[in-house]
Amino acid sequence: MKIAILPGDGIGTEIVEQAVRVLGALDLRFESETALVGGAAYEAHGHPLPDSTLKLAKEADAILFGAVGDWKYDKLERQYRPEQAILGLRKHLGLFANFRPALCYEQLTHASSLKPELVTGLDILIIRELTGDIYFGQPRGRRTAVDGHFPGAEEAFDTMRYSRPEIERIAHVAFQAARKRNKKVTSVDKANVLETFQFWKDVVTEVHAQYPDVELQHMYVDNAAMQLVKAPKAFDVVVTGNMFGDILSDEAAMLTGSIGMLPSASLDKNNKGLYEPSHGSAPDIAGKGVANPLATILSAAMMLRYSLQQPAAADRIEAAVKAVLSAGLRTPDIWSEGTTKVGTREMGDAVVAAITGKTITKTT
Ligand code: IPM
Ligand code: MG
Repeated sequence: MKIAILPGDGIGTEIVEQAVRVLGALDLRFESETALVGGAAYEAHGHPLPDSTLKLAKEADAILFGAVGDWKYDKLERQYRPEQAILGLRKHLGLFANFRPALCYEQLTHASSLKPELVTGLDILIIRELTGDIYFGQPRGRRTAVDGHFPGAEEAFDTMRYSRPEIERIAHVAFQAARKRNKKVTSVDKANVLETFQFWKDVVTEVHAQYPDVELQHMYVDNAAMQLVKAPKAFDVVVTGNMFGDILSDEAAMLTGSIGMLPSASLDKNNKGLYEPSHGSAPDIAGKGVANPLATILSAAMMLRYSLQQPAAADRIEAAVKAVLSAGLRTPDIWSEGTTKVGTREMGDAVVAAITGKTITKTT
């Protein structure tokens, strides 16, 4: 097994370091190689996704990714911005299926912005299509308008589009995932306004015919945003396009108390995957040793489960994370009165200790 480690920018390096330590504590045999990506790669090689990094990612069995981005790159031409690295990896590796679980840990119910009774036991899975939609649709750009409200004015445009095979394959992923859970899929669209999403709805409905044991519900995206804060536990699997999935997955993440807890997996058709925390590079807290490494550690667990066929090792990581939470250790993002505030490294230490069977104590 070969794992490509791409820490990236901001807190990316700190949190990935802890996840690598946790993987090291499991006594698995794997090879790993680290490479620069994002702003760090731009500084060193003049491109956020250098050929050498892309080659490593293609050769590896799985990729552990931190985060990319920093405000200081906002003025660069789009192709050189750090975000292009993750978009490029998704596209070049065909990582079309993005799994973003939103799981509310019992110990963190009070960190949620919603009332505890709304989120206790919350366990939803957002499946976001990741290589199509308005994110990648051509044509796009700037031009002089020839029609519209202001002919002759400067305008910008993007193209929202989905092909039948793109919708079919993500629908299959969602129905199959639902079979292993509570057998309910909510397909989120905007069929009342957009052609692309009327087509999405039609194709998802057709694919559903092959999964009579799974319940399918359609929901407009605006209503889905509302239902997520009104009655989030009514959802099981949510499947949607790239853009709506980007937005709803951040919303769902916040229901659980902290985006610092949520892992994600982006898979290709052979279950090769890229694993990253759902949160970003948080430049405001980078280098301070306070970032929550648990989302990345849990991403490593997803990697073991989905791409490396090591479910027992994945279970061990997840159990260790629950154990450190039960022991009361909290990074600042999930801290509350009566719990012990720890930094990034101490949180990593505690998870390693839980895995290797040592007692967890406050380490400050
Ligand atoms: C995400 C992020 C990315 C996205 C950015 C960094 C390009 O927000 O993974 O959700 O929009 O997909
Ligand atoms: Mg996002």
